[in-house]
Amino acid sequence: MPTNTQPIPHSIILGIESSCDDTAAAVWENGKILANITATQKVHEQYGGVVPELASRAHQSHIVPVVSEALKKANRTLSEIDAIAVTQGPGLLGSLQVGYQFAKGVAIGSNIPMIGVNHLQAHIAALFIENPNLPIPMITLLVSGGHTQLVLVNAVDDMQIIGSTIDDAAGEAFDKAAKLLGLGYPGGPLIDTYAKQGNPHAFNFPDSQTEPLDFSFSGIKTSLLYFLRKEINQNSAFIEQEIANICASYQYRIVDILLKRLKKAIAQHKPASIGLAGGVSANSQLRNSFYELGQKFKLPTFIPSFEYCTDNAAMIATAGHYLLNAGITSDIHSTPFSKNNSHNFQTNKP
Ligand code: KG4
Ligand code: ZN
Repeated sequence: MPTNTQPIPHSIILGIESSCDDTAAAVWENGKILANITATQKVHEQYGGVVPELASRAHQSHIVPVVSEALKKANRTLSEIDAIAVTQGPGLLGSLQVGYQFAKGVAIGSNIPMIGVNHLQAHIAALFIENPNLPIPMITLLVSGGHTQLVLVNAVDDMQIIGSTIDDAAGEAFDKAAKLLGLGYPGGPLIDTYAKQGNPHAFNFPDSQTEPLDFSFSGIKTSLLYFLRKEINQNSAFIEQEIANICASYQYRIVDILLKRLKKAIAQHKPASIGLAGGVSANSQLRNSFYELGQKFKLPTFIPSFEYCTDNAAMIATAGHYLLNAGITSDIHSTPFSKNNSHNFQTNKP
């Protein structure tokens, strides 16, 4: 049984995100985000990474309070919501299920459309929250904890992946390095902070051979591991003494790997603008280098505000709005998916 797919005049959309370790809800109304609430799960910090079973349990206890708080902040009630948008994937299946089943319950109970949203498409939709009329086609570099992609964007419901990582994501490369260096989780922000005091050319980490627009980050992580082993053998205090230089050099190479591919994509596809999205877009060196690249190519540059960069439900509600406008809703029998492939991008385009 499909959810109500009648083209009702919709103006208020509730967004839900639960793909990893953040439980989030947001209210979108006529182009404005009225509330954007996120409950971050602290339980994973002691394990140095997300523990899937603990994540889905925490989502179960967070989801109702988080949705209630978002509605309260937006000064709206559930009965006023016209549609519900929810992350369908990719992500941890147990985590996705919590948000997805909750959304189904609301869609059935309130007889409103449900829109299953691709999490990656939503990270890119975040660029449209503050700039709904950004010049297209846009090439977006999407860099998160689980994904690294180059996406050619014509609209929220019309995107094409033109480059992907063949192994780890950029965020994983940051997080795994932080673990090797004995820093906390998530590692990206910590490496970013230490890197500010260091010399980016102190040590040399390698890029990998890939297809021109693809990425690979497993090589740089392994090279850091062997480098640290060798240096610690000679000086057990090496990490402590050189932490800033290690972080600066490692971060320098990750940013170089990312922007080299973005440059090639610009040369090939000649976009009207460039965007940066996903949690790693919080990285200060990446942001600076991205803006410089835009200036060099005379292209307008877009990065969402910080609260819309990391996992959030405002981007899900926004994507839901564009998809609903394009006539895309989800069947009540649809299910979440864990892995992304190009067929998972929601579109009506042939
Ligand atoms: O998009 P996101 O919030 O979650 C996923 O969908 O994965 O991205 C989280 C990732 C983590 O790997 C985290 O280390 C990274 O974003 N990150 C950063 C910074 N802030 C967050 N990486 C580098 N520098 C930062 N300042
Ligand atoms: Zn994400």
